[in-house]
Amino acid sequence: MLYFEEGRIVASSGHVTVYKYGRDTYLEIGPGHNLWAISSEIKEYIRQLRKIPYGDCLEVGLGLGIVSNYLLSLPKVKSLTTIEISKDITEVYRQLLVLNENDGDIRHTIMIGDVHEVLPTIISKLNKKFDFIFFDHYSLIDEDTIDDLSLLLPIATSMLKDDGIVMGWFDPYTPQEFAEQFYKLFDN
Ligand SMILES: C[S@@+](CC[C@H](N)C(=O)[O-])C[C@H]1O[C@@H](n2cnc3c(N)ncnc32)[C@H](O)[C@@H]1O
Repeated sequence: MLYFEEGRIVASSGHVTVYKYGRDTYLEIGPGHNLWAISSEIKEYIRQLRKIPYGDCLEVGLGLGIVSNYLLSLPKVKSLTTIEISKDITEVYRQLLVLNENDGDIRHTIMIGDVHEVLPTIISKLNKKFDFIFFDHYSLIDEDTIDDLSLLLPIATSMLKDDGIVMGWFDPYTPQEFAEQFYKLFDN
């Protein structure tokens, strides 16, 4: 993977760097070359999310904003709230909007903080429940991710409107053992 040698840096803040290489955009959260998102993942996100999201949506993990932009493009989505732990990620997202001459979307609210602290406070802060909640704040699915999601899911479920849906990004490279545990978590 040569994106960080041959690619062009198009946005950066602190330890967060975005490269353009070929047709793809790469998000690194440093100080090493830790790759957190690639724009080509949009195909897999669309395959998993389909046209399911609707109404008031909540997303955890902004990254490059690929999912945010997809959710906001769906006709049945009324609003989107994104929880993101890193100010640098939100700054880089802002830089990418400017670069793409995109004024942003007034339906999009970004809340900066750790999901564990922000999630339990959202209903009182925003005074609303959600139709769709999507978790995508991990880079892979392992034992720690399963434990983390086990803690967060009951909170998320209590924040849903009637018939609301909670989903989590499924990394296609997840080992079978964790894939089974992951699907069990979301199978309600
Ligand atoms: C895999 S990326 C998300 C990719 C994103 N869905 C996209 O469309 O590009 C994970 C994001 O979750 C954020 N994150 C990690 N831990 C978090 C936490 N505890 N609370 C909130 N956000 C977190 C990271 O900073 C990163 O921006």
